[in-house]
Amino acid sequence: MTDSLWYKNAVFYEVYVRAFRDGSGDAHGDLRGLAEKLDYFCELGVDCIWLLPLYPSPLCDDGYDIADYYQIHPDYGTLDDFKHFLNEAHARGLRVITDLVLNHTSDQHPWFQSARRSRHSPYRDYYVWSDTGQEYPDARIIFLDTEGSNWSWDPVAGQYFWHRFYSSQPDLNYDNPAVRQEMLNVMKYWLDLGVDGFRADAVPYLFEREGTNCENLPETHDYLKEVRRYLNEHYPGRVLLAEANQWPQDVRLYFGDGDEFHMAFHFPVMPRIYMALAKTDRTPLLDILSQTPEIPANTQWCTFLRNHDELTLEMVTPEERDFMWNTFAPEPRMRLNLGIRRRLAPLLDGDQRKIELLYSILFSLPGSPILYYGDEIGMGENIWLEDRNGVRTPMQWDDSPNAGFSTAPMEALYAPLIDDERFSYRQVNVAVQRRTRGSLWNVIRKMIAVRKEQPAFGCGACQTAAADNNLTVLALIRSWSGETILTLHNLSDQPQSVQLDLSCWAGAPVADLLSDRRFPVCGDEPYPVELGAYEYLWLLIVNS
Ligand code: GLC
Repeated sequence: MTDSLWYKNAVFYEVYVRAFRDGSGDAHGDLRGLAEKLDYFCELGVDCIWLLPLYPSPLCDDGYDIADYYQIHPDYGTLDDFKHFLNEAHARGLRVITDLVLNHTSDQHPWFQSARRSRHSPYRDYYVWSDTGQEYPDARIIFLDTEGSNWSWDPVAGQYFWHRFYSSQPDLNYDNPAVRQEMLNVMKYWLDLGVDGFRADAVPYLFEREGTNCENLPETHDYLKEVRRYLNEHYPGRVLLAEANQWPQDVRLYFGDGDEFHMAFHFPVMPRIYMALAKTDRTPLLDILSQTPEIPANTQWCTFLRNHDELTLEMVTPEERDFMWNTFAPEPRMRLNLGIRRRLAPLLDGDQRKIELLYSILFSLPGSPILYYGDEIGMGENIWLEDRNGVRTPMQWDDSPNAGFSTAPMEALYAPLIDDERFSYRQVNVAVQRRTRGSLWNVIRKMIAVRKEQPAFGCGACQTAAADNNLTVLALIRSWSGETILTLHNLSDQPQSVQLDLSCWAGAPVADLLSDRRFPVCGDEPYPVELGAYEYLWLLIVNS
């Protein structure tokens, strides 16, 4: 694998900077604090850090409402702090990607402020206006719990403006060549500073066309290909990751012929990992994998269990959504829009066996995994905070006051620490897990290390192991360049036996990659494996 394909076998880690580490003592996480913690990522084995938006913003959508694309939000520090952080990350061999919010700005952005004040403003045409607010009725509303329409009336402008998210986030008008150029300028600025690429926010919605749902339009793909051409020409080796919460066949288009995005999140696979566990049935996962098209050799899926948003249930059927809500979000406060605003560990009752199992599935699936900060120690949530803030609470480093996050007075922290009976920072923290054998943190660290030694995980084809009808066990075979890895997952709390057809590897020894269980060589007969409750195995079939 060449270095320019680094992202194909990388482990990513998503950081909400405000939550990670407060280096200035002002009760908000910042870039200086993050820089102090860089060795942590190396220790865990992470290759690339994804930073949520860092830019000046009124924070109506936690920074996804950008007021200036060229500066750092004062809560996070200065541009010099950013440069320092990036240099220090690079010095450790870590890569850093930032959020690129293409679709919309904040209504506080000077472009919008100018645009709304006069029809003659050079920025008027940067946004999408209407006299009636009736256009594009087929576009769905995404923030269903707060927005009644994708149009909002602006009394200053005397017109309606178009927005796919909060009404404080007017959509940019990509039919305007000046807007298309502005965003290339933004990219150039951060790439020149040295970022290794972007997680491109909300890309399906760039263009609007009457008679469509205004998602995944050909015009959008044309522009994104232009973005990629620009990157290829000037910044080879940097990466573009698409946030397109869509069905696999629609996301497939974002890879183009290997000439659009390098990576795209696989949204639909995510809820089906939870569903398979809850139903003790691998079928939902295998179904979505079978609906997932092949992707070009220079591209990669990005898989995740949780992120900073609600656990989205947009890419499931209404029946599946009800099942997920009833199972994982019994209380109304746990639900938001079409999703569940909870963290990984509480979703799984804090049961380490289940959490490990889900990570093992995540790491076994095709794609590069992204971990969400705090989930590597099984952090809890606070459903009483508004919006998605309940999954954005301070990182729990140790059991000292403020959990080692900040030296500010506790009551000043930007959000309360998790301090409930089950998930309090006094028990759930990095320090204790680092020194405890078999802790979640140590298990994940080991999984990452093993995964990175075996390129079949990142690059290999994925098949299900044949000849077994026990639906409770998920068995995946990843193979690449003469290397074969069999992963097995018992989705239930009961021991399970499986019989696998490994006859095409007859004579090959089998090595356990995660523990030291011994296994017989593969043979022509069905190959029996016993799995304990929620047990998972990673087996290397050593081809001769
Ligand atoms: C993306 C982000 C989400 C944000 C939205 C609007 O979905 O992940 O946090 O609210 O875009 O920018």
